[in-house]
Parts: sequence; C-alpha cells; structure tokens
Amino acid sequence: MHNRREFLHAAAGAAALLWSRDLAAFTRAARAANDQEIWPLVREQFLIPRDRIYLNVGTLGAQPRAVVDAVIEHTRRVAMSLPPGVDWDALKMRTAALLNCDPAGLVYPRNTTEAMNFVANGLDLKTGDEIITTTHEHIGGLCCWQLVSKRRGAALRQVSIGDPPTDPDAAFEAIHRAITPRTKVVSVSHVNFTNGLVMPVDRIVNLCRERGIISVIDGAHPPGLMRVDLRALDPDFYASSPHKWLLAPQGTGLLYIRENWRDRLWPTLASGGWDDLSLGAHRFNHLGTLDESRLAGLDAALRFHEAIGHDRIVARIATLRRSLHEQLAELPRVRMTSPLENGAGMLSFRVEGVPSLELQKRLAERNMRTRVISEYDYGWMRLSPHVYTSEEEIGRVVKLVGEQR
Ligand SMILES: Cc1ncc(COP(=O)(O)O)c(C=O)c1O
Repeated sequence: MHNRREFLHAAAGAAALLWSRDLAAFTRAARAANDQEIWPLVREQFLIPRDRIYLNVGTLGAQPRAVVDAVIEHTRRVAMSLPPGVDWDALKMRTAALLNCDPAGLVYPRNTTEAMNFVANGLDLKTGDEIITTTHEHIGGLCCWQLVSKRRGAALRQVSIGDPPTDPDAAFEAIHRAITPRTKVVSVSHVNFTNGLVMPVDRIVNLCRERGIISVIDGAHPPGLMRVDLRALDPDFYASSPHKWLLAPQGTGLLYIRENWRDRLWPTLASGGWDDLSLGAHRFNHLGTLDESRLAGLDAALRFHEAIGHDRIVARIATLRRSLHEQLAELPRVRMTSPLENGAGMLSFRVEGVPSLELQKRLAERNMRTRVISEYDYGWMRLSPHVYTSEEEIGRVVKLVGEQR
C-alpha cells in the first residue's frame, strides 16, 4: 500500500464488496433452491428475532441483511470522505426494470407522503376545481389534498367505495358516478391500506384520460408485492414507498411522473436547477444535501428482490395471504373485512366481542407485531405477511386469534 489514500480506497472497496459478495452467494443459493428449500434460506437473511412474528409490512418492511449492510457501507464511505457510491442512472434503470417505466420519469423522495405532496402542491388547482378520492385513503395520500383544498379552495370529495370495499367493479362505479365536469383530479390507492383490495386503477386511469382528468395513484404498496406495469397503466403520477414490500431502508420513496408533466409540475422544494426544464423529472431530485445511503439500500433491496425472483416473491406472499385468510375465515367469531380474491398483501378482520386494539395488545404480549386500522373508526385488525413469514407462524397466530373471547 503506497499511501493512506490508497489504503482508504481499498478498505472501503473491500467493505462494499463484502455485502455484494454475500448477496451474490445468496443469489446462487436461492436460484438453486427448490420451493421447499428456498423459504428457510430466505428467512436467514433477516434480522427479525427467531421468536418474533412480524406481520406489519403494510407499514414498514423488515430489511434483509444485504440492505442494512449496503446502508452501513455507504455511510462508512461518506465518513471516510470517499466519493459517494450511488450511481443514480443505474438505480433508475434497475427501478424502471421492476416497474416497467421510463427511467427518466423517476424521482426518489423520502416516501409516498412526500411524493403525493410533491404532486398536490405542484398542480395549479383553484376554487371551483374538484378532487375526487375515496374513504379508504391513507393520510399519506389524503392530507396533501386536504391542504390544497383548504389553501386553494378546490373541493375535496371522499367517495364511499363499499363498507368494507371488496368489489373492484363497485369501487369503479362509485368513482365513475362521482365525476363531474369540475373534476380535475382523481387520486386513489392502487392497493387499499385498510384491507388490501386491489383497486381497478387501469379502468380509473383510462376514464380519467378520456375525460381530461389528472390521475394520481397512491401506489405505496405494489412495488415488491405485485406486478406493476407503468407503461401499461400510464397514470399521470404514481407515488410509492419501497420501504414497504420491496424491503428498502425506511425513508425511501418513489414518484413516477408521466412525460407530459415533467416540465410542467411545480417543484415544492426549489433548489439549484428547479427551473431548468431540460432536467425533466430529475428537477425533483434536487433537494439539497441528501442521505444517499438510503438509495444505496434501495439498490441492494432491488438486487435482493431479483435474487429471489419477482414471480416467486409475488406467488409466495399471495399463498401466505390466502392461507391466513382461509384459516381465519373458518373461526366462528371472526368477520373478514378483506376480499379473498382481488386482494394483495394485507388482510383485515375483526373478532366479535374483542376490540381490535385489545386483540393487538394480546398478540403483542406473544411477540406478534400487527396493525389496527383505527382510521375512519373502522377498527379492523390488519395482518401483512412477507417472504420471511412461515406457515407455522401463521398457524400460531390463527390459533391465538381463535382462542380470544
Ligand atoms: C396506501 C398508503 N399510502 C400512503 C402511505 C404513507 O406511506 P409513507 O409513510 O411511506 O409515506 C401508506 C402507509 O402505510 C399507505 O398504506
């Protein structure tokens, strides 16, 4: 080693290589594993304690080791004053491959909430305009419209899509009926956080396009959970949180901007280049000094996802959700509030005679992490499994729920 600088480069390079090498070894093992062997192998990649059952991906996914290590190594490189290792173009290409979209339309805010705010605050809405959304939106996709409505005078209408909403056709009809000549924006979730219903976003986006209405999709959940094809869907805006089902570091968001908006949407945060329209969607990535370690983690999360294989992951989560649903539905006191079909990832229910917050407390005492949908006073228990969940864990949760009085 000739000098200190070379030593630092070599040390950081070796550290960066370590997690890459581990991930490469995992990739080889995962590819060689059959459907019985793979899931225990995958489980080993997570830091969740063995005796803990984590069923709240709907809020935040558990990061695999490779993602944690990538974040740490990036942070270490910065601390060593070495050049940041995130290649934005490569990251956009990898993200675009997952979402089947034009990489030039991608923005990396901190989460869906920020992405949705970038959209709502960046449009020229005014008194007399109307925004349509549903009674199953998360605050992260709703509050931005409440703010715009209060500040600019545009009317906000939350349409009921069923109680509980389980039928995509009925949801579509409710939105269709609510549209008026004043409607400027329709903003809906792709997958409802309340019960996992997959909304008919393709029909909604088409309807919006026919009527000249801006379509905004709160896609917090789908990336990593189900096939997302933004070229086919073609919404005006699609916001997401890869720190959920894609298992990226917390504070990793996505916003996809359709080409016709890239030089028209007003930036909410103005920094160098905010008015350089030639930058297109990349204008929205100019936010001052960023923590790029989360992007290094996102890159690792995308690679981890590829290592197992997209179709394999989607099928596994669907199998776990179905198994949970079928077993819970057989319990005499359980009332499912989720559809079995047309649902993804999350499922919700209540137990007669047991408030969901009380049920959640009892499950937590047994080291099981869940979520209660208290929003809109629904009071539903929500469970969301992922690739690290086993059938045996599902059996334990179902048994405990069945014992509740
Ligand atoms: C449908 C939906 N939209 C938005 C959000 C907000 O996500 P974030 O906190 O990552 O901004 C969530 C979070 O659970 C959600 O479920």
